[in-house]
Amino acid sequence: MTQDELKQKVAQAALDYIKPDLRDDAIIGVGTGSTANFFIDALGKLVGQFKGAVASSDATAERLKGHGIEVFDLNDVDQLSVYVDGADEANAKLEVVKGGGAALTREKIVAAVAETFICIADASKAVETLGSFPLPVEVIPMARSYVAREIQKLGGQPVYREGVVTDNGNVILDVHGLSITDAKDLEKTLNNIVGVVTNGLFAHRPADVLMLGTEEGVKTLT
Ligand code: 5RP
Repeated sequence: MTQDELKQKVAQAALDYIKPDLRDDAIIGVGTGSTANFFIDALGKLVGQFKGAVASSDATAERLKGHGIEVFDLNDVDQLSVYVDGADEANAKLEVVKGGGAALTREKIVAAVAETFICIADASKAVETLGSFPLPVEVIPMARSYVAREIQKLGGQPVYREGVVTDNGNVILDVHGLSITDAKDLEKTLNNIVGVVTNGLFAHRPADVLMLGTEEGVKTLT
């Protein structure tokens, strides 16, 4: 199976997982990226069976609308029972690295509000130790060099993702060379650097369910 076929399978599995909970008033949190896109395309076939969605990026909002799914502002939504999104890396504790698509801040906000965060990925994203995938950090533009110097002091090698501006008008530093043994601690430490908006570690709010697309089928971890 190709990586895309695995992503499509796991996206469908996530939809099957939440299907029993879909109701007329249900609003679903939807992530960003190619795996999330497969989920959106599958969700598009169920228009009319739920109320709508909250999007974690402008790109996701556009794709949802393209399927006729109503997109709500998170501020107008009291409760979000489920958030479905992909990941760049995931460990056995269901801590994940996100932000390869530069949508990490809104993704983290939607995940924080959701009762259940279902992370979907092809099996190549499962790792023993987080950090091989460069950790994305969203930064206020004027603080870029300062934040980069502070990250170097922590042992990381930050690389400016040139030409990328986030939906929030900020820039991304991708931090190479980290072997993340204490994800919660690093998440907090990075967020404490002045000028950092957020970082791509989802450890304080990890996934509740991790669904991995494998050649043998979808593996679900909770
Ligand atoms: C976007 C993300 C994505 O979920 C992550 O990059 C995985 O993307 P894909 O499903 O395309 O592999 O965090 O900011």
